[in-house]
Amino acid sequence: GPSVRRGQRHHFLADLSQCLFDFVVQLLPTPEELAIKEDVRKLLERLIKNVEPESRLLSFGSTANGFALRNSDMDLCCLIDSDRLPPSASEMVVMVSDLLERETKFQVKPLPKARIPIIKLTLAPTQGLPYGIACDIGFENRLALENTRLLLSYATLDPTRVRTMVLFLKLWSKRRKINSPYLGTLSSYGYALMVIFFLVHVKNPPVLPNLQVIPPMRPITKEDMHIGEHNIWFFDDTELLKRTWQSGNTDSVGELLVDFFKYFSHDFPYNTHVISIRGGLIEKTYKGWYEASQHILTVQQPISQVLQPDPRAHDLSRDRNRLCIEDPFEVSYNVGRTVTKDGLYTIRGEFMRASRIFSSRPDRAFLALTQLCE
Ligand code: GTP
Ligand code: MG
Repeated sequence: GPSVRRGQRHHFLADLSQCLFDFVVQLLPTPEELAIKEDVRKLLERLIKNVEPESRLLSFGSTANGFALRNSDMDLCCLIDSDRLPPSASEMVVMVSDLLERETKFQVKPLPKARIPIIKLTLAPTQGLPYGIACDIGFENRLALENTRLLLSYATLDPTRVRTMVLFLKLWSKRRKINSPYLGTLSSYGYALMVIFFLVHVKNPPVLPNLQVIPPMRPITKEDMHIGEHNIWFFDDTELLKRTWQSGNTDSVGELLVDFFKYFSHDFPYNTHVISIRGGLIEKTYKGWYEASQHILTVQQPISQVLQPDPRAHDLSRDRNRLCIEDPFEVSYNVGRTVTKDGLYTIRGEFMRASRIFSSRPDRAFLALTQLCE
C-alpha cells in the first residue's frame, strides 16, 4: 500500500544522500594538488611583480569558492594597487605574456582583444602532475573576486548540502556535455547560481538566507558597497550567521537534488522568467530581456529596421535570452546568454532524464547515480 511505498521512498532518499556524499568526496582535489596550485600562484605573482611591482595575484572561481573538482583549471586575477595610472588590461596581457614565455615552461596564449582580456597558460602533464595545469590570468576583474566570495559564503553556511549539490551538478553537467558555454550550453558558474537560487527562493522553508538583502550591522560607506555602478553588498559574516540563523528546512541532499531536477524540468517558467539570486523569480519583461520571437517595437528603433530587421542582429538576440540567469552583481548581465535554443532544449532534456532515472530506480540509489552520470 501507499505507506510501504512511502517507506521505500524515504529509504531511497536517505541512501541517495549517502551515495552523493561518497561520490562527491572522491572528486575533491587532493591536498597535494591544492599545494601545487598555491605554489604556481606564488611563482606567477613573483614574476608579474617584475612588470608591475604593485600587483597582487588572487585566485577566484572554483579554486577559491569551495566548488573545485579534482584537476579543475585555475582562475587567477591580477590587481594593481597603484596611485599612478596602471597599464590597461590588454597592455598587461601583452607584457606579462612576453615575460612568462621567457621565464617559465608554460605554454602561453595571450588574448589581449577578448571582451575580458586574459592570458591562457598550460603545463603539459608530467609524472608528478598527471593532468598538467590549465590556468587563466585576468586583470582587474574585481567583480569576479566578489562573486567568488559570495558563492564561498553560501557554501560555508551549509557546507554539506550546498557543496554536495553544486559539485554533483558540475560533475554531472560535464559528463553529460552540457557544461560548454562555447558550444551553446551553460558554465559551471551558471549551474552554481541555479542551485543557490533554488535553495534561497524555491525551497520553502528556504535552505539558505538571501545574503544580498540582509542589512549591514554597522553603517558602511557607499564606496564599500559599490564597484562602479554595481552594488556589491552582501552579508559576509558567515560565522555570525551560523550562530544566529538556522534554516527551517531539514530536507536531505538527496531530496533536494531530486526536487531540483523536477523543478527545472517542469516548473521553472523558462520563456517568461529570470533566475535571480538577488531578487528571486523576476519577469523577463521587467529586465527588458526579450526573445526575438516577441518582437518589441521601441521608439529608438527606426521603422525601416523594424520592417526589415538585420538578420544577424535578429539571430544574436534570439539566442541571447533563452535561459536567463541574472549575475548577482552585474545585474544587466545574463550569465545564461551562451545558451542557445538547442542548448536549452538539451539541458532541459537532461533535467528530465535525471528526474526519470530518480523515479524509475527507487531501489538502488548507487545505480541511479551511476546511470545519471554515464
Ligand atoms: P570549473 O572551472 O568548471 O571548475 O568551474 P568554476 O567554478 O571555476 O566556474 P567557471 O570556470 O564557470 O567560472 C569561474 C569564475 O569566473 C566564476 O566563479 C565567476 O567568478 C567568474 N565567471 C564565470 N563566468 C562568468 C560570467 O558569465 N559572468 C561573470 N560575471 N563572471 C563569470
Ligand atoms: Mg574555472
